[in-house]
Amino acid sequence: MLLVLNGPNLNRLGLREPGVYGSQTLEDLERQCDAWGAELGQAVTCRQSNYEGQLIEWIHEAEEHGFTGIVLNPGALTHYSYALRDAIAGQRVPVIEVHISNVDAREEFRHKSVTAAVCRGKISGLGFLGYRLGLEALVESQE
Ligand code: DQA
Repeated sequence: MLLVLNGPNLNRLGLREPGVYGSQTLEDLERQCDAWGAELGQAVTCRQSNYEGQLIEWIHEAEEHGFTGIVLNPGALTHYSYALRDAIAGQRVPVIEVHISNVDAREEFRHKSVTAAVCRGKISGLGFLGYRLGLEALVESQE
């Protein structure tokens, strides 16, 4: 059972800077994640929050709720949230960090991730495909 977490502003996909993030919505993304999970033989639960504390609590509870891996797009929290980093580091479920846009080709402040070092890996710039690759990587590492 895998968990897909999207952080601040990702509920605005489709409306928000479509030149950067595309025209598909969060609902489209979550539908695709469900379908990809089904192909991989895994139930996928998708959640989004604009609140740092909510994301932290979902990460804390992931293991006891039976999740074996997390695909996480922390949005801008990536670049400064030591609290989110500590939440990831303080539990055992592997986390793959995903960014829809190529953060390294954008503004300087996006080049730094405070969360990536405590994640299993990081995927950036491949659009929604990054979520699929993240799910695949989690399934593969379980086998
Ligand atoms: C993002 C990149 C972040 O820099 C930005 O703050 C986001 C989305 C991405 O998916 O490309 O909200 O994580």
